Amino acid sequence: MLPKTKHPNEGDEDHLHFFADYEPPTDDFLADVISGLSRDQKSISPKYFYDQKGSALFDEICRTPEYYITRTELELLDRVLPDVANMTGPDAIVIEWGSGSSWKIRKVLDALETPAEYIAIDISREHLKAAAAEIGRQYPSVKVGAICADFLAPVHLPEAALVSQGRRLGFLPGSTIGNFEPPVAQEILQRAAGLLEPGGAFLIGTDLQKDEKILLAAYNDAGGVTEAFNLNLLERMKAELAAEVDLDAFAHEAIYNTDLNRIEMHLRATRSTTIRVGGKDFAFAPGETIHTENSHKFTIAGFQEIARKAGFDTSHFWTDERELFALHYLTLP
Ligand code: AVJ
Repeated sequence: MLPKTKHPNEGDEDHLHFFADYEPPTDDFLADVISGLSRDQKSISPKYFYDQKGSALFDEICRTPEYYITRTELELLDRVLPDVANMTGPDAIVIEWGSGSSWKIRKVLDALETPAEYIAIDISREHLKAAAAEIGRQYPSVKVGAICADFLAPVHLPEAALVSQGRRLGFLPGSTIGNFEPPVAQEILQRAAGLLEPGGAFLIGTDLQKDEKILLAAYNDAGGVTEAFNLNLLERMKAELAAEVDLDAFAHEAIYNTDLNRIEMHLRATRSTTIRVGGKDFAFAPGETIHTENSHKFTIAGFQEIARKAGFDTSHFWTDERELFALHYLTLP
């Protein structure tokens, strides 16, 4: 399917060089919810967390004292970006996956020598447009484009995107790659390799395996922001799909799966209840859950193995002093 491509000078998109839309509207949300709730282990993809409210709640999670990931990565970026800039060279085309509010990218753009272009890829259409347009306003010398797509969409760069001969630098911060099971993560990296082309590089953040207490606290913050983020999925179903859901019947849960080295988020039914959506009834026994997210925690070697299988060289990585988080600079031969 060819994406709709819009050109600049359309309202909020004044500062966007291009906008390409790969993400189909809500019928997919409905179809995904129905197929997810039909499974033995009910599940809904975490990509649906990020409506306006969910995106704002995620930004709030990043500011909670327990969620060390964002703070640690930002500090690490400050330390390593001079090296990244040297390795990348001038006039880079920077492509960010899962750009969200696009605040980490400012550090990258500030560090690089005359970056030519910034292309933001994200699932959350309005949030993406606003955030990318804001970068366009703040960095007039950088051509800024946006692509609305999920991580598995076969994205192509529009003609309008290719204005520089500089190196392509992918950026996937926040350990967002941890949302995917290792074989899927490998596939995403493989596709990214196709966009980044030989000679390209990929700066990617991965959360590391660590004391379970630190992990559990990060996904069960005392202020209840993660809880609100998880429960917002049900509110979104009510608002967008006219789902009948008893919000009181569900509780936030985040556990660490030690076999698979991942945080799992669930919405647990605290009593028997039924969700009605799309003309179908989904019954929950007390204690039954909807699995809403995986957040895999890596070792350096484990992540490097995935990256190598996807075709990258893995010579450079950095971690913070406490080895909570790692940034990898992957390169394509
Ligand atoms: C944006 C996927 C990296 O897994 O830590 C934060 C999302 N979920 N708190 C993560 C999230 C609950 C976050 N990622």
